[in-house]
Order: sequence, then structure tokens, then C-alpha cells
Amino acid sequence: MAGRKIAVVGLGGIGGVAAACLSLSPDNDVTVCARSRIDMLTFDHNEDSTSIALKTLTDPNIAEPVDWVILCTKAQDVASAAPWLERLCTPQTTVAVLQNGIAHEERVGPFAKGATVLPAIVYYNGERLAPDHVRLRHIRGHDLLVPSVPEADAFAALFAGTLIDVGISAEFITYQWRKLLVNVIANPITALTRQRLGVFQRADIQGLSLGILREAVTVGRAEGARLCDNEAESILETFLGYPAEAGTSMYFDCLAGRPLEIEALNGAVVAAGRRHGIATPLNEAMLALLTAVSDTNAAEG
Ligand SMILES: NC(=O)c1ccc[n+]([C@@H]2O[C@H](COP(=O)([O-])OP(=O)(O)OC[C@H]3O[C@@H](n4cnc5c(N)ncnc54)[C@H](OP(=O)(O)O)[C@@H]3O)[C@@H](O)[C@H]2O)c1
Repeated sequence: MAGRKIAVVGLGGIGGVAAACLSLSPDNDVTVCARSRIDMLTFDHNEDSTSIALKTLTDPNIAEPVDWVILCTKAQDVASAAPWLERLCTPQTTVAVLQNGIAHEERVGPFAKGATVLPAIVYYNGERLAPDHVRLRHIRGHDLLVPSVPEADAFAALFAGTLIDVGISAEFITYQWRKLLVNVIANPITALTRQRLGVFQRADIQGLSLGILREAVTVGRAEGARLCDNEAESILETFLGYPAEAGTSMYFDCLAGRPLEIEALNGAVVAAGRRHGIATPLNEAMLALLTAVSDTNAAEG
């Protein structure tokens, strides 16, 4: 009989892979909280494809408290997931937030009923091929990274023996900002230009990217991230090695007319910049333009 009660909220690319992997451990009792019912999930990894039976709830009113919530919605959907958190959380629950951006505690804490909020950096690629079909790709290093806090070992234990490798770091804030730095150029620029990563081969786009990155590096350092003097240049250089035909989640959300995760990315840089009195005009421009797109998508969706 599985001991740990786990609820995975949001069955997209990241939540689908997390639910699949967690379900494969006999120590976990996994419930998926989603907007539509999926009883069987196909999970692809390398050449393997596995069918995994899921216990899915679509009505928050019948959810019961759990030990762990793995929150896998996009950042802008946290408020809409509040009815789930209301039922699932107690002060003994830990909510692991598998989302891009920073400030996970501030974003999720108000809905978590005194539960502990554990931010996680997601390094794996989770692709939703169909509502009931996901694929895991490892990018490099750990698949998930959490800060070295008291809940970290227990979180890593949830995934022990599965395909997801969880790292724990005392330098979490630095890694969080490094991930944010990639996201503050990749997502808005592909979304605004409606072009995949190949657009970064253009010299004018590289110049704009460096400007956005340098602002974000200054803010990240003020927040305590240990970023190097040439961090902006080195992020851009690494980034230019990514496949030109790859898209980003904001690019795909933009094409599909969905709301965008811009507030959690460039919005986080702008907000932190304001706290430290650091001007971030290029990030503000990305935020304003894409908030306008996102609001229109939300109104029309
Ligand atoms: N995918 C990746 O490879 C990747 C990599 C690194 C980081 N991330 C980050 O990980 C987070 C999750 O990304 P994702 O790619 O998994 O997004 P996604 O594919 O869009 O999945 C989000 C899921 O959340 C569900 N959802 C939204 N509101 C909900 C609610 N109120 N109740 C229940 N379910 C709800 C959506 O349901 P519907 O299907 O009904 O819309 C969708 O299934 C984001 O912050 C993203 O930036 C993703």
C-alpha cells in the first residue's frame, strides 16, 4: 500500500511527465487534478512507450488533503488552481511548484493554506503530444533542482528510482536566475517575432537580447544571485547553440492564442528591479507588449 499521498495539479507537458514518473514508484499514491479526465496516459521516453493508469479528479470539491502537491500549471494559472489548493493543502502539506520564473512562494503561498511552498527549477523537457500522451526528454544535468531546505530530501525521495533526477543546491537562487535569463530572451522574442530560435542568428536580435540580459543580470545580482561579469554574453552564446527549429512555450502559446507567462518572466525582472531601484526599460517593453497580447488572448479565449 503506497504511503505518500501526492496530488499533481495540471496535466500538461511537465505535470504529465511528473505524474507518470511518480506513478511508477510503488511508494507513491498519486492523484491527478486536471480540467479533463484522463484514465490512461501514454508516457514516452527514448524509444520506450508505457501506458500508465491514472487516478484523475476534475472536481476540486471532492479532493482530499495530501502530503504533497506537485503544482504544474503555468504561472498565470495559479489563481485558477486555487480551488484545488484549498482542498488539498493543510499546514502539513508541501507544495512543490514546478514552474518557470522566480518568487514561487509569493505566487503560490497566498493560496496554500499554510502549506510549505517548495520552488523547483524544471530542466527536463515535457512535451504534450496529445491530452493523454507525453514525452520526457532530459536536457542536461538534473531534471529538477530544489533549494537545500528541510523538505528537499523528502521531495527527492518521491522521485527515487524513477527517470527524474532531482538535485538539491545551496546556490538555488543563482541557478534560478540563470534559468530566468534564458527565458527572458527566448520566450518574448520568439513570441513577438513569431519565429523559432533561428531568429537569434540575426545581429539586431542578438543586440536586443544582450540589452535585456544585462538588465536582468544587474537585477539578479542585487537579488543575491552569483552571476559572472560576462553572464549575459555567455548565456547568449550557449543559447545560439540550441537548435534553430526549436520553439518556446510562449511562442506556441502565442500561436495558439493562449494567455502568456510573461508576468512570471520579464515581469519578475521588472518587479525585482523596482525593489532595488534598478531601471529595466527593455524588460518593461517586453512585459508591456506581451501583456497586451496575453490580455487579448485571455479575453478572446
Ligand atoms: N514543458 C516544458 O518542457 C517546460 C520546461 C521547463 C519549464 N516549464 C515550465 O513548467 C510549467 C508548466 O509548463 P507546461 O509546459 O507543462 O505547461 P502546459 O503544457 O501548458 O500545462 C499546463 C497544464 O495546467 C493545466 N491547468 C491550468 N489551469 C488549471 C487549473 N485551474 N486546474 C487544473 N489544471 C490546470 C492545463 O490544463 P488544460 O490542458 O485544461 O489547459 C495544462 O494541462 C510552466 O511554468 C513552464 O514555463 C516547462
